[in-house]
Parts: sequence; structure tokens; C-alpha cells
Amino acid sequence: MSYAHITGWGMSVPKKVLDNQAITQMVDTNDEWIVSRTGIRERRIAGEDETTASLATQAALNALETAHLLPASVDLIIVATSSPEHTFPSTASLVQDRIGAYRAGAYDLSAACSGFIFGLNTANQAIRSGDVNNVLVIGSETLTRFVNWKDRNTCILFGDGAGAFVLQSSEIPGGILSGVTRSDGSGGDLLILPAGGSFMPANFDSVHNELHYIQMNGREVFRFATKVMANATQEALRAARLSIDDVKLIIPHQANQRIIESAARKLHISMDRVMVNVDTYGNTSTASIPIATCEAISSGRIAPGDKVVFVGFGAGLTWGATVAQWSGPIVPKPLILPTHFRFLARLRSLLLRLTRRIEGVIWGRIE
Ligand code: COA
Repeated sequence: MSYAHITGWGMSVPKKVLDNQAITQMVDTNDEWIVSRTGIRERRIAGEDETTASLATQAALNALETAHLLPASVDLIIVATSSPEHTFPSTASLVQDRIGAYRAGAYDLSAACSGFIFGLNTANQAIRSGDVNNVLVIGSETLTRFVNWKDRNTCILFGDGAGAFVLQSSEIPGGILSGVTRSDGSGGDLLILPAGGSFMPANFDSVHNELHYIQMNGREVFRFATKVMANATQEALRAARLSIDDVKLIIPHQANQRIIESAARKLHISMDRVMVNVDTYGNTSTASIPIATCEAISSGRIAPGDKVVFVGFGAGLTWGATVAQWSGPIVPKPLILPTHFRFLARLRSLLLRLTRRIEGVIWGRIE
């Protein structure tokens, strides 16, 4: 029997910080309103040279470094994202090429802000089935590129960033203990990016009517979120045959401080058992849970053996939770570090492109 252990974690955020004061220059709002309604004080904004794939690549390499695992050993890469670089190829394929994970299959997972939880649960199932041994699950976003900076209901909320976990199979019991994955498509219109898909490809009208930006019914999303966060946590704990008292730390999706506090109240736990960093990053969608986890570890709030719950919600509507026993690296440190693979991966990618070109010329496909 294989268990899926979380053996590596890493994050990467853009350099540029946008605080609430800067947003008051764009829309009619103020720092006091944003902080009291959301808990957010600042967020990161991707610069021109920072993209969903570049942030994901760096987070993945950092996670591999923590796990002591080389990219060549990765079997599967799942990138959960709502802001992929393209409809296709998948952002996961770009990451696969850039880290040099030449044995890996790679695909994107679309479940909005619940995507990282859905990715963890899927990776757990893949490892438990015995099909794969080493999986990278990444949440990466540049959602601020889809935000209408004239809409004060949404532009205050989102930020950019990426986070990644390495999951590895082991015969030792532990790792991911249970997972809950849920959807309710009847609420799809509550949080939607109307244009840019096959239903309404981007055109002059869609841009003119600002339909290529995020639209949200904030109050309804708030109501939904406060209902499902505690329920999903309890359901996942029951599946793992644990009680809330067994849990060291809850790591929720970082959308809004008030939603997190409401979930804590429903679970009858104090806020010192809940990780919160929404104040510094805003809502980074699929990246928020792995980023919060990295910060929880670096501040000593989780240690090997501790039980943790990851819980999230998002557009779709979607929600889910994962219960895990914290692990850490299970293999010794290699001589070459995963980050050294970046150069090798670039060289390999160049050689593959060159070979394809030369073959094209030889066989007359390219002039
Ligand atoms: N600054 C100042 N006032 C604002 C504002 C802003 N940035 N945004 C909205 N307001 C105003 C509204 O226009 C409204 O004014 P009115 O009463 O004159 O009409 C008032 O504040 C209250 O608006 P309301 O929408 O009821 O506020 P709220 O307390 O529900 O907070 C959200 C709004 C968006 C912060 C909150 O609904 C929320 O966080 N929802 C969940 C969103 C979320 O998590 N989305 C991501 C899911 S993954």
C-alpha cells in the first residue's frame, strides 16, 4: 500500500508590492474599509517578466529542493490555475520543459481557487493507485491581469504568486489521510470571467463591455464560503477518522479574514490554530494555500508528524479539503541541486527545438 507524503514545498511571489494606499489612487476606496472588510493590507503584482509559468517554475524548483528530488524523477506535474499562460499549451507543459522533468506528464487543472486542494486530492489518488511515485502539485496565478482596476468590488481582493508541493509515495503510513472534492455549477455566475473562452471569444464588443475581467457577486460568494469551509473541514476529518482536536493547524484559502474567522468560530477553534497571511498577499487563488503553508513552516507552526487541514473554496462553485500528516524530505540530499537543472533544462529544450527544425528541413517540412 502506497501513501502520498508531502515531502517538499516552495513558493515564489512577484517583487512588486501594491498596498491599499496605492489602490485609493485608482478607485473610490480607503485602507480602513479594505482592512476591516477583508483583512488585506497589500498584495504582489506580477511585472512584465513575471508570468504564471515563471512563478510556477520557481516555486516548483524550490519545492523540489526542499524534497531533495531532481526534476528527472518527477512522474506527474499538475498546475492548478485560473490564469494559465494560454488556453493551450498547458502552463504545466511549460513548467515541465523549464525544469527539465523529461519523464513527467503535465496538465492544468481548472477549479478556480479550490484548484490546489483538487490537485492534492488527485495527486494522492494517483500515488495510491500505484501509477506514479513523485508528483508536483503547483498553484500559480497572475490573476491581477484579469482584474478590472476600475471595479472597487474586485480589484482590492486579488494578488499574484505561486506555491508548490512535492508528493512522494512511501510504504510508511502517513501523508495525505483524506480528501473532499465538491462542486455546485448552479452558482457558476456568482464569480465569472465571462469572455475569452469558447462561449464568448475575445472580440471588440467583449473588450468594449469589459467582459474579459473578473465579475463577482461578493455577498453571495461570502455566504457560500462561510457555509462550506467548516463543513468541508469536518467531512474530511470524519473521513480520516480524526477530530478537530487532533489538528495542529488549519491552512485555509486566503480570500478574506472574516471568512476565515467565521470558519474558525463554526469549528470551535481559536485563531491561533489557523494560518492567516491574507494581509500580505491578498487572494492569490490556487497559490494561497501552498504560500500560507510555506510561511507556516518557516515560522515553526508545523513540524513532522503534525496533522494539518487544507481547506478552500472558489468559483465554479467549488470547495474541498485535504487532511494530511506532515512529513518532510524522505530521500537524502543529491549532489546536484534541482535549481542546477534549470540550465540543463534550457539546453535540453533548445536541443529538442533545434533537432525538430533540422528534421523538418531534412524531410522537407520546413524550407
Ligand atoms: N471600498 C469602499 N466601499 C466599497 C468597496 C470598496 N473597495 N467595495 C464595495 N464597497 C461598498 C459597496 O458599494 C456598498 O455600498 P452601498 O451600501 O452604498 O451599496 C458597501 O460597500 C457594502 O458592500 P458589500 O458588497 O455589502 O460589502 P461586503 O461587506 O460584503 O464586502 C466583499 C465586500 C467583496 C469584501 C465581500 O463580500 C467578500 O469578501 N466576498 C467574498 C469575495 C471572495 O472571497 N471572492 C473570492 C472567492 S475565491
